[in-house]
Amino acid sequence: MIEPAGPLGPVVRPRRLRRTPALRRLVAETSLEARQLILPVFVREGITEPKPIGSMPGVVQHTRETLKKAAAEAAELGLGGIMLFGIPAVKDARGSGAVGPAGILNVAIRDVKREVGDALPVMADLCLDEFTDHGHCGLLTRSGAVDNDATLAVYADMAVAQAAAGVDVVGPSGMMDGQVAVIRDALDAADAADVAILAYSAKYASAFYGPFREAVDSSLQGDRRSYQQDPANALEGVREAMLDVEQGADMVMVKPALAYLDVVRAVREAVDVPVAAYNISGEYAMVEAAAANGWIDREAAILETLLSIRRAGADVVLTYWAAEAARLLQR
Ligand code: PBG
Repeated sequence: MIEPAGPLGPVVRPRRLRRTPALRRLVAETSLEARQLILPVFVREGITEPKPIGSMPGVVQHTRETLKKAAAEAAELGLGGIMLFGIPAVKDARGSGAVGPAGILNVAIRDVKREVGDALPVMADLCLDEFTDHGHCGLLTRSGAVDNDATLAVYADMAVAQAAAGVDVVGPSGMMDGQVAVIRDALDAADAADVAILAYSAKYASAFYGPFREAVDSSLQGDRRSYQQDPANALEGVREAMLDVEQGADMVMVKPALAYLDVVRAVREAVDVPVAAYNISGEYAMVEAAAANGWIDREAAILETLLSIRRAGADVVLTYWAAEAARLLQR
C-alpha cells in the first residue's frame, strides 16, 4: 500500500483528475445525451391557444397545432422520444374519450406521426385517468373500487386504437395487474406486433404527482393506494418490473425518479431490458419554484437532477426539461 501521506503531503490525490474541464470530461463515469431524454407533452381537445399550467412554469397544454411544433423541435434536437398525454373536452366514468380514432390522444398521435415520421419515437400514455371524471386509472365497481380485470379490457382497446393511429411505443401507466400481457396480446392480434411497450412498472403512490393533476384537469376522488405502490417498498418494485418483462415489456420504468433512485438502481440490476425513470411534475415544480425564488442555479440544478437519475441506472429519462436540457448540452 502507498503511504497516504509522506513528508511531502498526500501521495494519493484524487484532485489531480479534477483539475481541468478536459480532465474531468476524460474521467466522467456517466453521460447525459439528448437521445436519452423523452419529452412528455400534454394536448388538450378543443382549444385554440396553448394554455399554461400554473404549477408547472414553462409547460403548457398544447393545441393540436402547437403540439406538432413541439414534436418537430424534439426531433430536430435529437431527443429520444415524445410521450403524449391527451385531455379530452368531456370526461365520463368510463373514460370513453380514450378509445376510438376521434379521441384526442389518438388524433394527436396521428398528427405527430405525420409531422415527424420515424425521426422521433412517438409514445403515448396508456391509462384512463386523463379521461375519467373520477380521475382513477380504471373503471370503478359499484362500490367505488378500481376494477382490475374490467379495466384491462379497456386498456386492450386503447392499445389497438393507439396502434391504428401509428404510435411507436405505448406506455401503460395504470398499475393494473396483468396489463402488459393483455396489451401485448391485443396488439399482436391487431397486426401491431411492432408496437413496443414501455411499462410503467414500479409506479408509486406519490405526493409528487400534484402538478400533473392540474396538467390534465383531473380532480381525483380518493387516492390511488390500492393500485400504485407503497413508497416503503423497493423489492416490490423489482418484482413488478420482472413481472412486466415476463409479460412482454420491451422497456420498464420507475416513477417517480428522485425519491426512488434506489429502486432505479435495483431494477437496473434485475432486468435485461432498457430502464426508464420519470422525473415527474412535482420534481420539476420543486426546482422551478426554488429557482424562481433565486434559491438555486436553475440550469445547473436541471442538469444535476437528470445526471443523478442516469447515474442511478436509468438508461432513459422522461423529463419536462428534455428540449431545454438538449439545448444546454449542445453548448
Ligand atoms: C397516469 C400518469 C400519471 C403521470 C403519468 N402518467 C399520473 C398518476 O398516476 O397519478 C404523472 C406524471 C407526472 O406527475 O409528471 N396516466
